[in-house]
Amino acid sequence: MDAIRIRGGRPLHGRVRVSGAKNAALPILCTALLSSGESRLRNVPNLRDINTLAALLRFLGRDTEVSEGVVRVGAEQGTIRPEAPYELVKQMRASVLVLGPLLARYGKAKVSLPGGCAIGARPIDQHLKGLEAMGANIELDRGYVIAKGPKAMGGRLHGAEYRFDVNTVTGTENLMMAAVLAKGRTVLDNCAREPEVEELAHTLNKMGAKVQGAGTSQIRIEGVEALEAFDHAIVADRIEAGTFMVAAAATAGNVLIEQAPMEHLEGFISKLRDAGCRVEREGDGVRVTRQGPLHPVDVTTAPYPDFPTDMQAQFMVLMCLAQGRSVITETIFENRFMHVSELARMGANIEVRGNAAIVQGVAALSGASVMATDLRASASLVIAGLVASSHETDVLRVYHLDRGYEHIEKKLAGLGADIERISGVRA
Ligand code: EPU
Repeated sequence: MDAIRIRGGRPLHGRVRVSGAKNAALPILCTALLSSGESRLRNVPNLRDINTLAALLRFLGRDTEVSEGVVRVGAEQGTIRPEAPYELVKQMRASVLVLGPLLARYGKAKVSLPGGCAIGARPIDQHLKGLEAMGANIELDRGYVIAKGPKAMGGRLHGAEYRFDVNTVTGTENLMMAAVLAKGRTVLDNCAREPEVEELAHTLNKMGAKVQGAGTSQIRIEGVEALEAFDHAIVADRIEAGTFMVAAAATAGNVLIEQAPMEHLEGFISKLRDAGCRVEREGDGVRVTRQGPLHPVDVTTAPYPDFPTDMQAQFMVLMCLAQGRSVITETIFENRFMHVSELARMGANIEVRGNAAIVQGVAALSGASVMATDLRASASLVIAGLVASSHETDVLRVYHLDRGYEHIEKKLAGLGADIERISGVRA
């Protein structure tokens, strides 16, 4: 099994370019199902999750190629099998994003329930309730969602008013993709306002959809009869950018993060500044520097535009090194502190009380063999390894990192880190 080996203690210097956003690419690739033509997505990161979705699109019957940053979803040929099997959905929960497009276009879909995952139970009840409001008949059968469009309308969904009980990113995306081909007008309230939702709306509108209000809590959609294929370049990944910003700050470095979408990171950047880091716009990127000590800052995760849950683990490493005590509260997922016990093995002083982690800063971290069970937790351990000046760090189970960070070890080595990928390590 691969591991990332780091000999820490070197401040990061130089420039690094952010890749395309995984969480924007995944729903947009699913919109290819809404059109019979050949769609093309550019600036796509080379990640395991993208390959999993490509495999799913192939399984459904769409010839899909991934090559050098471009994903081409071939034109529809022959019959489509509107089914997402457990074998693929269990590899990546975001596979559930094919539910809305399949139902909208073919009037039926069979999609495996994703089940729980390392960071929480993560139900999809909101996706299903919204689809029911649009006339879908939903049954659960042996771990699968079996969804059918209304018989009276030949399987076509109808517009509806739906208010999400919970703010959900992929739930908002699934209902948007279902509503664009529904008959009539849909109004979605209490929607997720994440930039990835806006990016999806932008692509749908390029395809001929009529979506208004994405990026606010109310999205209004006028259904159309058919949609064109798309050719689109994906936005930069705000979470990858944020991760490099923390790495620069934690190592007391000076890094220009090119193409960092600063406007999509405001909730996080204000906390980084409170912690004593300099964050300045430079060209199309952001320069992060730190010279003085780190100050303790309390953080609570919340939906966009507040502090993102996907930056919580990485920010915690900074707080492990701050001069004093901070409280990090996780409100989005119920079990997203798996990195705490691993950071403790590196010398961190953290106590978890319910959904809050109380972090008492320490003078230094020391290297160790560590592993995590999710993507962002793994990124936090890499940052901790970069800081740890005594002993090397092996971050095991690298496949989590490979789900969401393109060539992370190469990018960090380019900034002066002593880091390599090694194989044959027992996890
Ligand atoms: N929830 C429900 N019912 C639903 C849907 C969600 O109760 O029907 C709950 C969830 O259990 C969770 C909260 O609502 O407690 C928010 O979940 P959300 O649905 O927003 O999460 P998601 O759409 O499954 C996306 C990202 C995650 C990111 C979250 C929160 C994608 C593919 N994934 O997940 O990204 O953490 O939004 O911002 O967009 C990651 O990239 O590492 C990652 C986990």
